[in-house]
Amino acid sequence: MTETGALLSVLRQRDIKLWVEHDQLKCSAPAGALDAEMRAALASRKDELLTLLRQGQSNNGPGATISATPEGPATTLLSTVSRRVPLPVILDRHDRMADFVEELRRCGYDLASCAARLGVFPRLGVNFWQKMRSNWIARPNDPIDNLITLFIDGHPVSADLIANQISSAFVDAALEMRLVEKNGDLLTASLCVFPCFGKYIVTDQAEKNTAINQVMWLWGESFILGGFVSRIRRRRAIDLGTGSGVHAILASDHSSRVVGADISPRAIAFSNFNAALNEKSNIDFVLSDLLDSIHGTCDLLIANVPYAPDTAANAGDNFWSGGIDGTQLLRRVVEALPTRLDQDGIAHINSLFPNPPGTRIKDHFDFWLGGKLGEWDVLDHTWPVPRYQDLLSDQPYDGDKSAWRFGVVSLRRSEAGNSRWREVAGRGWFFLNDGSCGVVADHDVS
Ligand SMILES: C[S@@+](CC[C@H](N)C(=O)[O-])C[C@H]1O[C@@H](n2cnc3c(N)ncnc32)[C@H](O)[C@@H]1O
Repeated sequence: MTETGALLSVLRQRDIKLWVEHDQLKCSAPAGALDAEMRAALASRKDELLTLLRQGQSNNGPGATISATPEGPATTLLSTVSRRVPLPVILDRHDRMADFVEELRRCGYDLASCAARLGVFPRLGVNFWQKMRSNWIARPNDPIDNLITLFIDGHPVSADLIANQISSAFVDAALEMRLVEKNGDLLTASLCVFPCFGKYIVTDQAEKNTAINQVMWLWGESFILGGFVSRIRRRRAIDLGTGSGVHAILASDHSSRVVGADISPRAIAFSNFNAALNEKSNIDFVLSDLLDSIHGTCDLLIANVPYAPDTAANAGDNFWSGGIDGTQLLRRVVEALPTRLDQDGIAHINSLFPNPPGTRIKDHFDFWLGGKLGEWDVLDHTWPVPRYQDLLSDQPYDGDKSAWRFGVVSLRRSEAGNSRWREVAGRGWFFLNDGSCGVVADHDVS
C-alpha cells in the first residue's frame, strides 16, 4: 500500500478534515483524534497531502477537503444519498465465493471480534452503527479493523493493505462480485458485508438512498430476530420480508426446505447472492406480496416486514413503510397464522408495534386473530419505545407514542387451557459481551 493511502484511510475513520488555506495545510479534528502519532504522520506526508488537496481544488473548486463528508443533505443521524448501486454478482466459479468466505472466517471477521472492537449494545447486538459506538479508532495493521472500515462503515481502505493482510485473490473476488470498486490504490465498498451468527450477509449501505429500493442494512433488529430463533430441526421455514435473505439463510441450516419472500426484486437478487455466498441450496427466494405467491404451510415462520407509520409511502414501497398506521403488513402476517402455521409450528415476528395510546399489542393481535388469541401461547420480547425516532420515513409519525413497543413476539398454538401472553423481555438486555444473543425464544421455559 502507499503510506499516504493508509493515512487517508485513518483520516476518514477519525473524521479529520484537511484543506489548503493560503498555501498552508489546515486541519480540523474531533477531540482526541489528533494524537502525537497522527501529527507526526501528517508532518511527514505534508507535501503529498498538499499536492492531493491542490488536485482536489482543481477538480472540485476551492474549499476541497479530504474528509469523510457524506454526500447530499444529511439528517444528524442518517445521511441521504441518491446513487445507483449495481447488484452483487454471483461468480461462475462458486469455489471462489467459498474461498472469499473462508478468508473472512480465517482472519477472524466474526461477531465476537467485531464486538470486542465496537462494543455491544445489549438490546440490539454489536454496535455496527457508528452513531452507537464509543470512540473506536481503526488500526491499519489490524485486518478486522480494515474489514469493518471497508464493509460496515463504507470508508476506503488501501487495496494493497487488504491484499497483504488477507490475499490478492480476496481483493479480486470482492471486485468481481461488485462488493467494492478500486480507484488508484483505494478500495471503496459499494455494499456491506456483515458477519451474522456464522454467516456472511451482503446488504446495501446504511444511508438512505433515494435512487434504489435499498436492501436493508443489518440493523440491530436483524440480530435480535436471528438470535431468538431456536435452531431445532424444522420441516419447512418461511421468511417474510426476507430483504438480504438473512433469516432464510440462518434457517436453512436446520430446516429441510426454506422459502424467503420479498416484494422487491432487488431484495430477491441479494438473497440469491447471499445464498450462493453461504453455499445454500435448500432455499427458494420468491417475489411475493407476503404469502400471496407461496402455497402451503410451515412449521417455522419468521417475519420482519416494514412497520413504520408513514403517510408519504405505501406499505411495501420500501423496507420501512408499514402504511399510514404502520400495521398494514403486520396485521396480514398475524391474520395468516391460523391457516399457514402448522399445528406444531412457531412464528417469530419482529416489529415496531405502534400501538395507539392506551392499547396493547395483545389487543391488536386478538382482533387480527378474530378474537381467538386464547388459542395461542405467546412470548412477548418487546420493550417500550415512547421516544422512537424514525430516521427514514419522509413524513414520520409525530403524535403520541406512549404505548409504542419494539421487539419480537413469538407464538405457538397453546395446548388446551394453556393459552398465555407472557412479557418476558424485562428491560430487554438480550446480547452478551461477545456479541452473541443470550436469549432464545423458548415457550417451554416458564
Ligand atoms: C424491515 S426489512 C427486513 C429485512 C430482513 N428480513 C432483516 O430482518 O434484516 C423488510 C423487508 O420486507 C420487504 N417487503 C415490503 N413489503 C413487502 C410485502 N408486501 N411482501 C413481502 N415483502 C415485503 C421489503 O422489501 C424489505 O426487504
